[in-house]
Parts: sequence; structure tokens; C-alpha cells
Amino acid sequence: MDSKPFFMTVLFFVSLIIYLGVSAPPPLLEEPHVGAVIPIQRVLSMAEAENDVVRALWTREIVGAGKTVGLQFNENWREKGVEAGPLPALFLRETAKSLEKSPVRLSLYLGSDFPIKAANSFKGKQREKFQIIKETREPQFFYVEDTGLYTASFADIAVAHPCVQCHNEHEQSSKHDWKLNDVMGATTWSYPSASVTLDEAIEILTALRKGFNDAYSAYLTKTASFAERPEIGERWPRKGHYLPSAEVFMEKVVELASAHTLDAIISAAEPLPQTQIVSFSKQQLEKPMPRQGQTPLPDQKG
Ligand code: HEC
Repeated sequence: MDSKPFFMTVLFFVSLIIYLGVSAPPPLLEEPHVGAVIPIQRVLSMAEAENDVVRALWTREIVGAGKTVGLQFNENWREKGVEAGPLPALFLRETAKSLEKSPVRLSLYLGSDFPIKAANSFKGKQREKFQIIKETREPQFFYVEDTGLYTASFADIAVAHPCVQCHNEHEQSSKHDWKLNDVMGATTWSYPSASVTLDEAIEILTALRKGFNDAYSAYLTKTASFAERPEIGERWPRKGHYLPSAEVFMEKVVELASAHTLDAIISAAEPLPQTQIVSFSKQQLEKPMPRQGQTPLPDQKG
């Protein structure tokens, strides 16, 4: 059983090598070679699946289990003298910050229409699409004209009681009657072109994994200032006052996420389901996108 994730990782790289070997343009060919093109919706969905794995791991194994051994997590975790780590929404923010610094122009944002932080409020088209997500719980794929970004938005659901309790009790919250299973917000991904090559898709996912690693490492760095720093190494908080090293944390992410991502990459060239193409009109798909510096989402401040 344990060898399965390893096997999947090997299979992933073997498939990649075979794919790259087969599709690499012959050196002397005059005609430009067009490689496999993956619709960006697919890549953003892969990013979302990876993020789901990390968010669950962070929430359950570090925040949830960590609290039982005395670790704390709050919104002021960055402040000097505060012995705490980031809440799940802020772990995601750290990941997004790492992506902003990367040359890969993927952006990530967790918004809502009733946020705790006003800066997390959806505006314009994102707000409209969020109403559809609340009704249908289906991901929405759309193009935002003013930023030139292809966007995918996925429901963020109150899956556990602490989501509801903390948001209802928070003094800055703009809503105090959240219920379990409500759509509380949406994880929103953007990228400036409608499709990418396989190489670009891998670059995007690699930058995202680096973002997870950076976010986790920022927390470990913070723990260096704790009066009683947890032991960092192989063990997890479930075992006591321990934290996994960044390598151990990322190995777990790879183990949990890679099989799904590999499968998604293999089926990436298949036609998209109807529900995913409606919002990207033909004209938008063909329009060349501006390639200059990374454009943040309009509501991404804060
Ligand atoms: C201990 C308190 C706490 C818990 C538990 C918590 N959150 Fe939050 N959440 C916050 C805070 C504080 C913010 C604002 C962070 C910021 O942007 O500075 C936030 C931000 C968010 C946002 C972005 C919009 C906003 O409200 O600003 C969403 C969506 C969200 N949380 C959903 C969830 C979900 C779903 C869960 C459970 C899986 C959850 N939260 C658990 C405190 C909490």
C-alpha cells in the first residue's frame, strides 16, 4: 500500500519523460511545432485540488492536532512576541504571496461576499459569479475583461464547526449567522492566458508547490522565536510537541496530491465538459493575452 504514492510519482515522471520525448520538435523542422495545449481551466482545477490537500493537511494535522499539544494559531501570528502560526486563510495568503514573487503568473485569492476582512470582499464579475457558486456549488470559469485574467472560482464550504463559530464570533465579521455547510467564500485562481503547454502547466504546479513550501517554512521560521519551540523533524503534532520539517510536510503533500494531479494531466487533452467552456467565448480564447508583468486581481489588496 505504502509504495503506491511512490509508484505514482515515478509513473508521473516516466510519463512526462515519454511525453516530452515524443512531442519535442525535431531539431531541423522548419514548421513551428504545436505541442499539446491544455485549457487553463484544467490547470486551475489541478491547482485547486492540490490546494485542497494542503488546506486539509494544514487545518487538521498542524492547526487541529497542534492545538491539542499547546500550539496556537491566530490572525496576528506575524506580530513580534505572538507565539502563533497562521490560520488556514492566512496560510493560503502566504502561498499567494509566494506566487506573486514567482515569474509564473498564477494568482490565488480567498474571497467572500460577507468577509471578516473587507479586503477579502469580492467585487464586480467575481461577485456575480460567486452568487452562482452559492446557488449551485459548482466551480465557475470566467474571463475578467479589465484585468485580462482567466479565472476559476471554487466554493469554500463551512465543513467544520470551528469555521462557523470563529466567523460568527469574530468582531470584524460582516455576518454572524453562518451555518455548517454554508458556502462561506470561494478560492479564486487566475492566469493571463486561456491555455498553456504541458511544460507551462508543470511550471505552474511547481510554483504552487513552492508556494506551499514557502508558507510552511515561514511558519517554521516563526517558531524559532517561541519560548518552547516544538521539535522539528520527522514527527507530527499528533505524536506530541513536534512539527514536521518542511521536507516531511512537502513529502506528505506530494504523497496525497500526486496521484490526482497525474491523472488530471493524463486526461488534460480530452475535450472540456460543456459546463466549463460556456464563459470563455471563442474570441476570448483566441485573443492574444498581454505578456507583461503580473496583474493582481482587482480585489487582492490587504
Ligand atoms: C479561529 C478563527 C477562524 C477559523 C476556525 C476559520 N476562519 Fe476563516 N478566517 C478567519 C479570519 C480572521 C479571516 C480573515 C483573514 C485575513 O484575511 O486577514 C478568515 C478568512 C476567511 C475567508 C476569506 C473571507 C473573509 O472572511 O475574510 C474565508 C472564505 C474563510 N475564512 C472560510 C473559512 C472556512 C471554510 C473555515 C473552516 C474550514 C474557516 N474559515 C475557519 C478566521 C477563522
